[in-house]
Amino acid sequence: MIVGKFTLKNRLVLPPMASATSGEQDTVTDKMINYYSEMSKDIGLTIVEHSYISPEGKAHQGQLSISKEDDVEGLSKLANAIQKNGAKAIIQLSHAGSVTSESVTGYKSLGASKLADDKLTPDIVMTTKDIANVVNGFRLAAKRAMMAGFDGVELHSAHKYLLNQFYSPITNKRSDEYGGAIENRIRLHLEIIKSVREEIGKDKLILLRLGALDYMENGSLIEDAVCAAIAFEKAGVDILDVSGGLCGYMVKSKAHLQGYFSVETKEMKKHISIPVISTGGITNSDAAEKLINSDCADLIGIGRVMKKDPMWASKVLNKTH
Ligand SMILES: Cc1cc2nc3c(=O)[nH]c(=O)nc-3n(C[C@H](O)[C@H](O)[C@H](O)COP(=O)(O)O)c2cc1C
Repeated sequence: MIVGKFTLKNRLVLPPMASATSGEQDTVTDKMINYYSEMSKDIGLTIVEHSYISPEGKAHQGQLSISKEDDVEGLSKLANAIQKNGAKAIIQLSHAGSVTSESVTGYKSLGASKLADDKLTPDIVMTTKDIANVVNGFRLAAKRAMMAGFDGVELHSAHKYLLNQFYSPITNKRSDEYGGAIENRIRLHLEIIKSVREEIGKDKLILLRLGALDYMENGSLIEDAVCAAIAFEKAGVDILDVSGGLCGYMVKSKAHLQGYFSVETKEMKKHISIPVISTGGITNSDAAEKLINSDCADLIGIGRVMKKDPMWASKVLNKTH
């Protein structure tokens, strides 16, 4: 499959999954390189786990860092190990927003709005200056990803993290140009996409992982997701990677389904022409093919199954599974 200047050797994606293998200072270790080297065999597109773009955006202890120049050396070994397998290497860029604490980061947490929910409310409601700093943080992280030799970056806007907090009407109660209508709730995303594109040039890939729906009362809906998808394509996103919003990467009521976000990805695909990744609950290759043949997805993310059996992709491609 061809995406921009890149040819993917197959439609399998290793979705971003925190591997708990980073070292002191949250850097790449040999253990991490071996892990990705094994996991990316026979995979078209490998997305390295969420890495924090700036110190205050760190989600948890041991998270991989892309927040400083010193990270580049280890990250370049990681990108190289993945590319040696013939897989394209992407790294997920993230800012945790309010879903972290001062004890993890050493800073007060940032977020879109003050909320009644203690777990989601930030210490500081972001000013336009804070927003500009975050945009610049993503830009600098993308620059480091390019210095390390990655084929592209993925912007993390799912699973309650900062960009998801701006996207979701549950967590975004702002009355300025970053709140209210969906066009405003994705303004930050569009600013980041523009800035990252300027930084990485037209040939490298920008993926965006969208927590499309919250599956919660008053949460984001398919209309929001479609509107956002159209705007992201127009802004230059190359691949849309669909997951859950404030619900996390899974919706309990759908967890038994192969491709549990596929109804949503099918609807979104009707409105955009960039490739869409469907991830969630896929454990067998027939189901994966069916999702592609029924216009629910262009690319298939296989997460937990690959974690359990890193040979899964090889077995499926060699028809020994
Ligand atoms: C251990 C673990 C770590 C994860 N870390 C991330 C992450 O860093 N970024 C992200 O966007 N999703 C993360 N996810 C979600 C996965 O990318 C994927 O969406 C989820 O596992 C559902 O796909 P599956 O059913 O194929 O496993 C993680 C999931 C697991 C199980």
